[in-house]
Amino acid sequence: MGAERPANHGQSTHGLRGDYSRMRPDYTIEQDHGSYSAAEHERWRRLYDRQIGLVPGRACAEYERALRSLDEYEAGIPRFEDVNAKLGRATGWTLVAVPGLVPDLAFFDHLANRRFPVTRWIREESELDYIVEPDVFHDFFGHVPMLFDPVFADFMQAYGRGGLKAEGLGALAWLARLYWYTVEFGLVRTAAGLRVYGAGILSSPGEVDHSLRSPRPRRVAFDLRRVMRSLYRIDTFQETYFVIESFAQLFDATRPDFTALYAEMRGLADVPADAALPGDRLVA
Ligand code: PHE
Ligand code: CO
Repeated sequence: MGAERPANHGQSTHGLRGDYSRMRPDYTIEQDHGSYSAAEHERWRRLYDRQIGLVPGRACAEYERALRSLDEYEAGIPRFEDVNAKLGRATGWTLVAVPGLVPDLAFFDHLANRRFPVTRWIREESELDYIVEPDVFHDFFGHVPMLFDPVFADFMQAYGRGGLKAEGLGALAWLARLYWYTVEFGLVRTAAGLRVYGAGILSSPGEVDHSLRSPRPRRVAFDLRRVMRSLYRIDTFQETYFVIESFAQLFDATRPDFTALYAEMRGLADVPADAALPGDRLVA
């Protein structure tokens, strides 16, 4: 496994898990809710029951509020239509079912149109603790609650538009790191203390406490250039987390046209996932 792979984009779908044989040109499929087995629904419930206990006092308030309103999550793998009814009312986003990871442009185009691709399949028994590819639990439990927050919802759409632009500028690697260190593995500093908003953390049984309390990882104040030059690992808990002050900060920092920034990034060397740089401001 390579040391770096973008969260949901940055590589072709070749060789990935999932059934890509019946999809539409935009990579969407029917969820076909009736064909999940009882064992799959039961596996979801175990994942859900374990993970929801980690949310209080650890996830950010925006996430927790939305998750609490999602009672569709309790009985088994949710139906996309049921969650869509609520999500559409909240922020105008729509969940679409996909076979698994989708190519960059298809992914960005969905986000730019406020559609979030959710993987249909659920992980195997042997993968309950850690998987490197997003499954239906990661996508629903980790990502969907944040789409209920208006500022974060707008950020995700802006990211999709930015992806379409970055593709043309040969800048995807930098943009993918931004996604990784915010949408997937972001922490936010609140009056009550550090909280998690990253989906990759929130859907992982071990990484919630690791990210907030372990003395091993570095927790660095968010800095756009620093994030964009930072390599990341997909096969282990993160060695560095970036901490935002608010979702407004994230939205504002990423609002400017990145064209000049990408030109600047070409002159900055990448740094390893565990790098300690002189300019880093550590967050306690
Ligand atoms: N402002 C970025 C650009 O001009 C787009 C973007 C927005 C990228 C939000 C990421 C997140 O390319
Ligand atoms: Co994800």
